[in-house]
Amino acid sequence: MAESIQAIRGMNDIVPESTLYWQYIEDVLREIARNYGYQEIRFPIIEHTELFERSIGVVTDIVSKEMYTFVDRNGDSLTLRPEGTVGCVRAGIQQGILHNQVRRLWYLGPMFRHERPQKGRYRQFHQFGVETFGLPGPDIDAEHIFMINRLWNILGINDQIVLQINSLGTKETRVLYRDDLVIYFKKNINELDEDSKRRLNTNPLRILDSKNPNMQSVILHAPKMPDYLDEESKIHFDKLKCLLDAAQIHYEINPRLVRGLDYYCCTVYEWIAEKLGAQNALCAGGRYDDLVAQLGGKATPAAGFALGLERLAEIVTAQKTIESTPDVYLITVGEIARQRGLLLAEQLRDKLPKLCIITSCSSGGFKTQFKHADKSGAKVALILGDKEIEQNIITVKYLREDKPQVSLKFSEVIKLLEKFD
Ligand code: HAM
Repeated sequence: MAESIQAIRGMNDIVPESTLYWQYIEDVLREIARNYGYQEIRFPIIEHTELFERSIGVVTDIVSKEMYTFVDRNGDSLTLRPEGTVGCVRAGIQQGILHNQVRRLWYLGPMFRHERPQKGRYRQFHQFGVETFGLPGPDIDAEHIFMINRLWNILGINDQIVLQINSLGTKETRVLYRDDLVIYFKKNINELDEDSKRRLNTNPLRILDSKNPNMQSVILHAPKMPDYLDEESKIHFDKLKCLLDAAQIHYEINPRLVRGLDYYCCTVYEWIAEKLGAQNALCAGGRYDDLVAQLGGKATPAAGFALGLERLAEIVTAQKTIESTPDVYLITVGEIARQRGLLLAEQLRDKLPKLCIITSCSSGGFKTQFKHADKSGAKVALILGDKEIEQNIITVKYLREDKPQVSLKFSEVIKLLEKFD
């Protein structure tokens, strides 16, 4: 036997039993997006490498070590998208749909990061993302948080998730903060691990994100971002907090929340689900008011978030049971019945388009087909054999209810099945 080829490490198949949960979640997400007046945008999975380098930042983990980058047959450097915001902005600028207007957009699809795979961290994963353009105030940050909060409520998982918020201020205040952080960490260099020593020269804010228990004390006493905020960012953050309070959305302020992408400014947030273990960030976002101009568009304020579908599916799967069973299973006995059966199923589908009807399509005998019907979870089996064809009837056998089987005319069968519609 030939050796079977396995999927790439960190890239998952999603089998039918699991897609039921994904479809349920995706339906809820689409409905929420529609409720809030967001429109779907689709953009390519591959972009020019430079796009991500210019926006996410060359010193970030994503760009410096996690991108799937390759040279194509034309000699161009291309990259599988590691996230959606940047492609969305690129598409928005190119299509001329951002300038001088308000846009509320969403997308859903696969993203790729060459991270070390572990539970909840994959190399191909899926994000549902929302990006809004043209609104500078904190109300749109609040609207995004309300949307996500509504999602948790609909899924019944709100008690498992905590919202952390922070403000990163403007680019200018971040430079001041960064300088002071570097001075502080240089003074305490002996307490830093190797990774953080490296980051001191590249991305010192990310040191605050370190999970190393030996570094928690030095991080705790480091200068804090809120002390550096400019007046405008402070007012923006205060207004956002008031809106969240008014909506009774509970949040924690985490002054160490800096995010792993360079394009953020002002509001940032993460929704954490402790239950997920080490990879516990379920959803994250914030403002990126400079990005559109940075990528060649006219300056446009912007904000958004993205949530990881693998992580959300894990929580929802543990929370509820979703099964999909057919309504009707059609059993046919004999060659003539087999042909008629296929046509009968078509007629039933014409009359009852919402029902799930499975035809056995099997040359197996009655017993085998009946076993399949029962295993399928169908509510009823319809039986078509020589006797039924001769008398122009269909036999109905209830598979989940304790009722005697009946033989009915087509019109009577329709009436009976209408209640499953
Ligand atoms: P992010 O924090 O990099 O932000 O990713 C958002 C979410 O994607 C995470 O909270 C997590 O649930 C999921 N995620 C990220 N990496 C992985 C992985 N390797 N495996 C499984 N799930 C993962 C962004 O991507 C920003 N674009 C969010 C945003 C949109 N900000 C503004 N607009």
